[in-house]
Amino acid sequence: SIYLVGIVILAYLFGSIPTAVWFGQAFYSVDVREYGSGNAGATNTFRVLGPKAGAIVMFVDIFKGWTATNLPYLLDGSIIGDHNSRYFVNFQLALGVIAVIGHLFPIFAGFRGGKGVATLFGMVLAIHAPAALCCVSVFVICLLVSHYVSLSSILAGFTFPISVAFIFKTTVPSVLLYGIAICALILITHQKNIERLLKGHESKIYLFKKKNP
Ligand code: G3P
Repeated sequence: SIYLVGIVILAYLFGSIPTAVWFGQAFYSVDVREYGSGNAGATNTFRVLGPKAGAIVMFVDIFKGWTATNLPYLLDGSIIGDHNSRYFVNFQLALGVIAVIGHLFPIFAGFRGGKGVATLFGMVLAIHAPAALCCVSVFVICLLVSHYVSLSSILAGFTFPISVAFIFKTTVPSVLLYGIAICALILITHQKNIERLLKGHESKIYLFKKKNP
């Protein structure tokens, strides 16, 4: 129906909000895609414009994914059926991925966006908050130990399907399927990072102390 098409377009438009690009242009007159890793994401905003800017972009990008995934709740979801039905969850998962596609290929920024990690996290938070907590824990620990955001993102991505399967023992197959799809998506968007990690060239991010020159 027209309602479903509208909600799908809305999810894409939400994901398409190029937070990193707009924030950098508005407050620093900088397109972060021209510096650092060239990525329009929270990590590169942190790298180029500093911790405060990076944190703001991260929160907005997480919020985008969370909002898109919860659109059926925020709008009138009754048309999709019972909130506890599998169909409802499937629809939410699809909306989350559509928002991530918007983030990767934003209509508002020449289709050159980010890698989708924060937006995916917003989606995971909306779908399964306890699993999201596991993902954050793995991300933070990995980041503090390795200082590689990309590696932390990849491991956090794998944590989602692993934790829903083995810790939370989900009975919803689509959550697991989407979880595996999320891993694949993160591997695809991080191909350059993986190459750099293997060569030892990946840039490090220090949350609390600056690297000595
Ligand atoms: O969220 C993306 C992150 O995993 C890597 O970003 O800028 O280091 O390629 P970047």
